Amino acid sequence: MNDAKIKSDYLKKIKKINELNESYYNNNRPLIPDSKYDLLKKEIIDLEKQYNFLSHKDSPSKIVGFKPSKNFKKIQHKVPMLSLSNAFSETDLINFEKKIFNFLDKKGDFKIQYSAEPKIDGISASLVYKNGKFVTGLSRGDGKEGEDITENLKTIKDIPHTITSKDFPDEIDIRGEVFIKNSDFKKLSDNFANPRNAASGSLRQKNPNDTKKIPLKFIAYTFGFVKGMKISNQSDFLKKLSEWGFKTNPFNKLIEGVNNLMINYDKIEKKRNELDFDIDGIVYKINNFQLQKRLGNVANAPRWAIAHKFSANSGVSKIVDIDIQIGRTGALTPVAKINPINIGGVLVSNATLHNEDEINRKDIRIGDTVKIERAGDVIPHVVEVDLKKRKANSKKFIFPKKCPCGFETIKEFNKITKKFDAVRRCPDRGFDCDRMAKERLKHFVSKDAFNIEGLGKKVIEKFWSLGLIKFPYDIFNLDYDKISQLDGWGNRSVENLKKSIKKSEKVSLEKFIFSLGIRHIGQENAKLLSEFLRKKENFLRLKNQKYIQELINIDGIGDTQINSLKMFFNEKVNLNVILNLSRSLDIQGFKESNNSGKLKGQVFMFTGKLNNISRAEAKSLIESNGGKIVSNVTKKLDYLVIGEKPTTKKVDLAKKNKIKVINQKTLDEMLN
Ligand code: IVH
Repeated sequence: MNDAKIKSDYLKKIKKINELNESYYNNNRPLIPDSKYDLLKKEIIDLEKQYNFLSHKDSPSKIVGFKPSKNFKKIQHKVPMLSLSNAFSETDLINFEKKIFNFLDKKGDFKIQYSAEPKIDGISASLVYKNGKFVTGLSRGDGKEGEDITENLKTIKDIPHTITSKDFPDEIDIRGEVFIKNSDFKKLSDNFANPRNAASGSLRQKNPNDTKKIPLKFIAYTFGFVKGMKISNQSDFLKKLSEWGFKTNPFNKLIEGVNNLMINYDKIEKKRNELDFDIDGIVYKINNFQLQKRLGNVANAPRWAIAHKFSANSGVSKIVDIDIQIGRTGALTPVAKINPINIGGVLVSNATLHNEDEINRKDIRIGDTVKIERAGDVIPHVVEVDLKKRKANSKKFIFPKKCPCGFETIKEFNKITKKFDAVRRCPDRGFDCDRMAKERLKHFVSKDAFNIEGLGKKVIEKFWSLGLIKFPYDIFNLDYDKISQLDGWGNRSVENLKKSIKKSEKVSLEKFIFSLGIRHIGQENAKLLSEFLRKKENFLRLKNQKYIQELINIDGIGDTQINSLKMFFNEKVNLNVILNLSRSLDIQGFKESNNSGKLKGQVFMFTGKLNNISRAEAKSLIESNGGKIVSNVTKKLDYLVIGEKPTTKKVDLAKKNKIKVINQKTLDEMLN
């Protein structure tokens, strides 16, 4: 890569982080998870380290936080509010200590004491006291200049307005974290991603009376400018803070040696879920103020402190209950209700336990301390149980054999694997199981199905409980008079709902089939069926089971799908739903896409196993490039694609008919 390209990539990243900062700090809206943000920040800093010609005034190495918002007066911090460097592992801590030893020119026998303080994930604030009076309160802003949020801070009970202690400095700015307790966060109706955003939003209200409505807390941990203070180390300072009337973190500790820092870290990480506030790591500060002074700062962080962060994709918590959820296809999914913990910026309070077998295999019980993992957008799940923490009186979890609807559940026997399914199910009886019926409705209106805006999961629950809907066709005959009398349903929202339902009445056969939520008929199979059946009349004919059997000719449809369709069409109530819907909807027959791709008009067929790609994916690739797939060797066929162990008969027949026989590599080349 040449320098110009490196620079333009770097500037792109700076632009991106600026946008993210703006949304985060000024609108209290994180656009990406914290872990991804940290990664971007690291990429920028690493680039600057590698190429010394890279530098920018908006780089995270130069700024802390973000420019103050226009709502508040800006005031300079007398001493800048710095940020902290991060450590993620024991090695990072060893290196941190090594650098300090080198800087101070110390040898191995020298011992460093650290003040280890759980790092509350809130909003930092600086409180200026003059002669014992709280005079000005500032947000961090960009580290140099903060916003004057004095009046808002004054509404927080933990912040003393006057301090009369004799040894309280003549002038000092006390710094600490404003935050909201998890239990209070849960009570808020606003949709904040995590307690930190809620605290930030509340703290920056234009009207202090709005701030007062949210129970904010304050914990003090450091100071900026100070005049007339005779304290020589951090742990004494923390003690003094509480004597002066500030709250400090009850888990602050004085620790020597990296080894012991690690032991404390593990302990706190396990305790984390029991705390009623969010912590995202532990801050280590060299205890001795004189050493702090000698070490000083690098650009925007002190050399004498570091934040040891908790993992961004896992955490430890306790299972307080196990809920059984019933899905659209009747599967009973156990969900662990856990003490909420922040994993990578998201407050997690549920974790899936997958199924009955998984609970048995891992012997997961209510009351267990467990490790929870949350990677990307995947649903958080339980990785392992900490057996050492299990109480002697803990009882094995007995998986319910009945669905909450009262019906006995079943475990299906898989004829191919000759094993019982891991999943327990409420047998599909159409719409008889309330829970399944509701889930089917939610699926019906979801994005990939009817995509009805304004009819989300919560609305479905509400309409259901009021008896406004039970079957999918009820959606197209809603009692709007009744709805307009409901709380939160003004004329506008009723009109909008009417409009989006009306719009959805014209639907493709493919979407219609998918939306019915037939087990084993997902989007791909719905497409195959609609391609084969062509129009709704043919779909309706499937009520005659002999027509269902014919579907076995479709490449991609097998016994599992056929059996599921048979079961579905066997239920009178399902037939009734389809008939009703087909009357009120405009179901469009299958339309050939007039694609103008590379393979336009070319017909392909596969035989044998492909490498690194499934049949379904290869098919969709060919189709998205304008090609067509057939499942028999006919004259119309242009190419027979052979994979591993092809059917000789098919290859011979193709050759006889002068059809081109190609391998996967040639197909790849055609698709480029
Ligand atoms: S000391 C120069 N101590 O972490 C020292 N910070 O990225 C900087 N934080 O802005 C602050 N708990 O919002 C310090 N015990 C603690 C802390 C703490 C949380 C936050 C604070 C700071 C950020 C550093």
